[in-house]
Amino acid sequence: AQVEKGNHRHFMEKEIYEQPEAISHTFAHYMDFVAKTVRPVAQPIDFASIDGLKIAACGTAFLAGHIGKTWFERYARLPVEIDIASEFRYREMPMTDREAALFISQSGETADTLASLRYCKENGLKIGAIVNVQESTIAREADVVFPTLAGPEIGVASTKAFTSQLAVFASLAILAGRARNTLTLEQESEMIQAATHAPRIVGSVLHAIQPQLEELSRELSKYHNVLYLGRGTSYTLAMEGALKLKEISYIHAEAYAAGELKHGPIALIDENMPVIVIAPHDRHFDKTMSNMQEVAARGGKIIFITDEAGAAASSMKTLSTVALPNVDEFIAPLVFSIPVQLLAYHTAVFMGTDVDQPRNLAKSVTVE
Ligand code: G6P
Repeated sequence: AQVEKGNHRHFMEKEIYEQPEAISHTFAHYMDFVAKTVRPVAQPIDFASIDGLKIAACGTAFLAGHIGKTWFERYARLPVEIDIASEFRYREMPMTDREAALFISQSGETADTLASLRYCKENGLKIGAIVNVQESTIAREADVVFPTLAGPEIGVASTKAFTSQLAVFASLAILAGRARNTLTLEQESEMIQAATHAPRIVGSVLHAIQPQLEELSRELSKYHNVLYLGRGTSYTLAMEGALKLKEISYIHAEAYAAGELKHGPIALIDENMPVIVIAPHDRHFDKTMSNMQEVAARGGKIIFITDEAGAAASSMKTLSTVALPNVDEFIAPLVFSIPVQLLAYHTAVFMGTDVDQPRNLAKSVTVE
């Protein structure tokens, strides 16, 4: 069936607004909300007996894996090695049969991701694939498929596939944590509780911040360079923000781990450099605030994406502060994806680019 845009100007906009549904369908596939457990879907990968996980993917799917790494390490104490697929496959890294590998791909056809999968398979690793297109090569060649239930994604810039990939990683990290006895039953049920709230929170954030983000995007579209900063999973979202902005608005954007600011990018800060700081009031907040201070002291224009607690705790002068609701740290990356996507989307609309088909880019990259 032909997918239509409905009342939306672009597929990308439609897909951004479909995220509550995509996330909720994906979580419902993995989680038993009544029993408050994750269904045992990982075989033949045995999270209890492996001592490492390798992850490879490209583009936005890689960034989902980057957050997945944080969760596997934090909640399941499982060491993760992650790389961009086009680098991963040539690294000749040591592999043992006590490891498994995970590949993430919306299309299931990305050439470098597929080549990385085959490389791990030849080395005897059990292969899991997080894919959105179930009838794809990557899905066929994996030992176990972890579907994202995002529905067809048409816009070249990935949105609902990304947050659905995060929902799969959240589920698998809980599953691995249980298998490895690193999460208590109580923690598991709290995390599942947080996950059940995520679609509703994402839905309300989408509507609440849209006008502010549209106005901010008008401002952002006047600049030629933008810097994104964050720590922890917010560093990954900074990378996702910079990727989205450059691919659809053609504004040059770079992401840095906030702590790395003083090792280079701080030299770029002046009144012509907007700096987007992503910082919920979490374990990293105070450190990120001192980085933000360094930007402010040099006249950088700050767009501060935080939560209510973060907005209350900061008295710094910003160009704009976007305050999301306070949410459980576990689901924060799902919620903070929304302002990152909307900012790129509306900026591209102001720039008048072809949002769904940006120049030089393809939805699925089958060349190496
Ligand atoms: C292309 C798309 C991106 C996507 C990447 C990986 O570059 O434009 O949106 O993230 O490929 O694609 P995959 O289908 O493997 O997720």
